[in-house]
Amino acid sequence: RQQQLRDDAELMAQCTKYFQHQLKHHSDSAKAINYLKQRGLSGETVKRFQIGYASSDWDGILKTFAKNDQQRQQLVDLKLVNRNDNGRHYDFFRDRIMFPIHDRRGRVVGFGGRVIDSDGPKYLNSPETRLFHKGHELYGFWQLQQKRQKPAQVVIVEGYMDVVGLAQAGIDYSVASLGTATTTEQLQRLFRTTSKVVCCYDGDRAGRDAAWRALENALPLLKDGVDMRFLFLPDGQDPDSLVREQGAKEFEKKLGESVSFIDYFFEHLLADIDPSSETGRSQLLSQAKPKIEKVASDFYREALMEKLAEWLRREK
Ligand code: CTP
Ligand code: MN
Ligand code: MN
Ligand code: MN
Ligand code: MN
Repeated sequence: RQQQLRDDAELMAQCTKYFQHQLKHHSDSAKAINYLKQRGLSGETVKRFQIGYASSDWDGILKTFAKNDQQRQQLVDLKLVNRNDNGRHYDFFRDRIMFPIHDRRGRVVGFGGRVIDSDGPKYLNSPETRLFHKGHELYGFWQLQQKRQKPAQVVIVEGYMDVVGLAQAGIDYSVASLGTATTTEQLQRLFRTTSKVVCCYDGDRAGRDAAWRALENALPLLKDGVDMRFLFLPDGQDPDSLVREQGAKEFEKKLGESVSFIDYFFEHLLADIDPSSETGRSQLLSQAKPKIEKVASDFYREALMEKLAEWLRREK
């Protein structure tokens, strides 16, 4: 089993190299390179994140790495190759920009693939495999750990391009939770690396929902000295688009204006509750209290209870 994991990791590393090589040398690579350029990425950034290209060929990976049945099965297991109902095999990722996802030790455990100009879902991710467990991994975490110093803060964003675009602009302390809600496990890992986390999801409905779920998942981790903050972007923006339009300075300024989890906690609840009525105040109490009780730090729990009490005392 240990041996298999090593073999899997080796194969994933080779596929990463293969996609990187295709980005330089495949006959269709120009459009992939142009796309990356058009998104403002330098060769250096592309290299740092080991970004590659899966061509529209149906058998690039298959031909290169499936030398026998066992190898082909391994590719199927790692979801780099699909088998259809007729028993035909073909490459899983086709005509996509490839973002390798590293685990914390730097092994590639999965990929995200973005379409360039064909249709289909914008992003295709490796499904769960024996190597890849989506809720555990954070895109960009390995790159973050490569830095000599622990970061003073880490920004959590939604997408691959947010991490890469921020890094391109010089903000090299962001990670992405891979499109799902940021899990307790992911947050736990981050709080071992830094004491300050800023959640900055897309400025749309999905992004706002993701922020609240991240806070809910973080409650048991909010110990003394831990700082969790929220930055809400204008609707339609994400960290990548914002930093491209307004620059790193402006983005960092906005980070400085992010709201604390305590303020966000009440802002969020009070968006749907009218505390001027008794019914409203009772709703506020019943929604806030069980959550506040989950907070790890006595200090933060007290601070939240204090604020709650203030709202409950308000008549109007
Ligand atoms: N995502 C996904 N599957 C999708 C859409 C999104 O897994 N069908 C995940 C990806 O990790 C993606 C992240 O959610 O990076 C953010 O999605 P979204 O905001 O929709 O991406 P965009 O910002 O629109 O992508 P881009 O900037 O590349 O155009
Ligand atoms: Mn989108
Ligand atoms: Mn979005
Ligand atoms: Mn985007
Ligand atoms: Mn986005």
